[in-house]
Amino acid sequence: MAVVPIAALVSGGGTNLQALIDSQEAGILRSGKIALVVSNNSRAPALERAAKYHIPAVVAEQKNFDSPEGFDRALLETLEEYRIQLVVLAGFLAVLGQPVLQAYPDRIINIHPALLPAFGGKGFYGLKVHQAALDRGVKITGATVHYVDENIDGGKIILQKAVEVREGDTPEILQKRVMEQAEWQLLPAAAELVCRKIAGFEG
Ligand code: GRF
Repeated sequence: MAVVPIAALVSGGGTNLQALIDSQEAGILRSGKIALVVSNNSRAPALERAAKYHIPAVVAEQKNFDSPEGFDRALLETLEEYRIQLVVLAGFLAVLGQPVLQAYPDRIINIHPALLPAFGGKGFYGLKVHQAALDRGVKITGATVHYVDENIDGGKIILQKAVEVREGDTPEILQKRVMEQAEWQLLPAAAELVCRKIAGFEG
């Protein structure tokens, strides 16, 4: 069975992209292959990671388009050009428009650094998520991989992993623990699961 061409959409550091690349090299992600990286930030360090592994990369920044629709159209054209079958939002700090969502039903997944539905939705991104968890005093947080639909962080959950909150945690310390103990395993595992579905191995 052919491997599923994956596009990783990024905005920043790209440690989740790195986790996908590493898991591909380790044979954990084997039903799909990262065929394209799209960044909406020309200065994202994630782009250097793509270059290092010779993965084609495209920069598409919203500010260079007249409208959100123009951005969506260009993104969709790029995804189609590379015959992408699964879109992985790996730290992508933008909301995808309807044309992209409709073209990829159950074919777009996102990693969120909390146990959804807690600490998700509009405004919950980056360190804000961890700050909110600490402010609330939760003792357990974690990460979630979910399908992307028109509701921000609201699509069906694919995988979750819990991570303990410790006394004295700062948002930065907690973010690092959630990445190391949850995100970097969860995203490749979920990508493999969904690729297997797409390729027809499972229901
Ligand atoms: C991660 O915490 C991810 O859960 C969130 O954005 C962050 C991206 O980090 N969606 P990186 O760019 O993968 O290092």
